[in-house]
Amino acid sequence: MYEGDRNLPAYPNQFQGFWLFWQLRFKCNLNTNPPNNVKDLAYLNKYFWKYKGLLSFGILFTIISVLFQIIPAQLVRYAFDSVSDMIKIYPLYDEFENQQDTIYELFAFSVLLYGVLIVIMALIRGVFLFMVRQTIIVMSRHIEYDLKNEIFKQYQNLPLSFYRRNNTGDLMARISEDVNHVRMYLGPVVMYGLSMLISFTLVVSFMLSIHIKLTVFSLLPLPILSFGIYYINSIVNRQSTKIQESLSQMTSFVQEAFSGIRVLKSFVREDDSYQQFTLHSEDYKVQSLKLAMVNALFFPMMLLLIGFSTILTIYVGGIEVIDGTITAGNIAEFIIYINMLTWPVAALGWISSMAQRAAASQKRINEFLQEENDIISTENISKSIAGKITLRNVSFTYADSGIEALQNIDMQINAGETVAILGTTGSGKSTFANMLCRLYDATEGEILVDDTPIKNYNLDSLRSQLGYVPQDVFLFSDSIRNNIRFGVPKLTEEELVQASEDADLQGNIEQFPKGFDTELGERGITLSGGQKQRVSIARAIARNPKIMILDDCLSAVDTKTENTILNNLKRIMKNRTSIVISHRVSSAKLADKIYVLDDGKIVENGTHQELINQNGTYKELYDKQLQSEEEAVS
Ligand SMILES: Nc1ncnc2c1ncn2[C@@H]1O[C@H](COP(=O)(O)OP(=O)(O)OP(=O)(O)O)[C@@H](O)[C@H]1O
Ligand SMILES: [Mg+2]
Repeated sequence: MYEGDRNLPAYPNQFQGFWLFWQLRFKCNLNTNPPNNVKDLAYLNKYFWKYKGLLSFGILFTIISVLFQIIPAQLVRYAFDSVSDMIKIYPLYDEFENQQDTIYELFAFSVLLYGVLIVIMALIRGVFLFMVRQTIIVMSRHIEYDLKNEIFKQYQNLPLSFYRRNNTGDLMARISEDVNHVRMYLGPVVMYGLSMLISFTLVVSFMLSIHIKLTVFSLLPLPILSFGIYYINSIVNRQSTKIQESLSQMTSFVQEAFSGIRVLKSFVREDDSYQQFTLHSEDYKVQSLKLAMVNALFFPMMLLLIGFSTILTIYVGGIEVIDGTITAGNIAEFIIYINMLTWPVAALGWISSMAQRAAASQKRINEFLQEENDIISTENISKSIAGKITLRNVSFTYADSGIEALQNIDMQINAGETVAILGTTGSGKSTFANMLCRLYDATEGEILVDDTPIKNYNLDSLRSQLGYVPQDVFLFSDSIRNNIRFGVPKLTEEELVQASEDADLQGNIEQFPKGFDTELGERGITLSGGQKQRVSIARAIARNPKIMILDDCLSAVDTKTENTILNNLKRIMKNRTSIVISHRVSSAKLADKIYVLDDGKIVENGTHQELINQNGTYKELYDKQLQSEEEAVS
């Protein structure tokens, strides 16, 4: 009997859908921080507007698909009523056997017809459900793409200080996990939200038009269902956060174990590492089991409440049928309606919890998007520079640590000069280099290039005339060729060879079977420290810069190679400015002028000979390093 089947879902698709949805939510459910301002999501409205076409069609298709769900419920009512009519009429024709057969066939045919119609409706609904997904989920994917690009563009625009304040993991999380949470809102939440609103409005109005009292009774348990799901979902979200944390701890641990495998093995710590992994793994298991238990509560609760709704409908409906206010078909119709409502009502709890999670993520994303770049150009001057650099009483303090890395620096470097900046570790040399590239701005004082304040230059124009070789060499996982021509994509083959010759790299490259096409990084070969530094120098030389800044980038090459590179530089940087930063006196020998930095201050300056004659810090360094070099040779 129909009623007998009520404890099993009459619409398995709904339940399967929900189940899939539920599982999907687990996969994507990474981080939930309760109550958040849903206003943060308003930022996304501009995207809804951009894709208004898809959204409008999505709404239209949702309405149609809901209608095609409601019509079958009415067909079931007609089928039921005709069956009960037949039960009444059939015995009246007891004496006319032939006519009884005809009546039977007629009824059987009409029931079959209803059946076929219901199947057709279901098929049509299926087509429209497909269209709903094709519009709304597709829209969410488009917005996800746009949002990721917007965030990445902003990332590229933000200054170095921003990257100091935020760790890489956090930046990555915003562009991946947070965007994913937001996408869940843009896609499934909007889709199910719409379907919930539309089904609820349409179905409840149909129900009310049939019988108000029966509607009220059968809907009674549904708010409890919605609240229950919201509650369970919040627990699940919290638990998922814990699982996610545990997982990320485990991942970092494994990552570190892999990257530090050399140290790990040489210190014979494999067993210890295994023990630690087991602990992480155990934690993950415990958290997952807790989640499994909460999850197990979900279905029984849902089925219980639906069952309760059904019983109420049959009971109250039964009384009404006896009173003659409604037909038996109406009860069947109502039961289907309740089934149709179960999903939207359950989704309500899910939707609100997902929307909150998305709001939290969007809030974090907004924080980044609203972050302003403080390194800006005041007058946007784009001009070719000669390379004269003047520092007037420049001081710099790192805002985050409060360390005063440079104090009252005065310096004058004429165009075409080669200048060496020497100093012990932590004396502020890299800070100085960063300021010339305008990665940071001076806290006090002024830097001028060709007598124009550095802040007046257009950033791109200024930076494109600099050749900066940073202290911590960074090469991309790409071919040597692409690494060298990174700053000048149109570099010709001759220029490429010339740059690598000037960086004293050509000899090494010729040894590689694939030459310039040798791949570096994860999938390629690992260069030695000195080779990496030279690729990095070749990359800067290839730009043909007006000012070259080498930040301690000869530390890993021997003094002979250093000499060759510096001599080459002298030739190619003729009439251009070179700044060689080093803690090695040998790098300074060829310089026209030497500045000695100590603890953020210039303690000496002059030519090599002048400084030797001064008999100060430079002379001391010179003697010490000369001595150790001699010791190394002997
Ligand atoms: N991003 C940063 N945030 C805060 N403090 C920093 C930062 N970078 C450097 N410092 C501090 O500023 C001071 C100068 O550092 P800097 O890197 O300029 O020294 P350096 O002369 O290049 O040293 P080395 O020869 O070791 O490269 C140091 O005390 C350092 O701890
Ligand atoms: Mg440094």
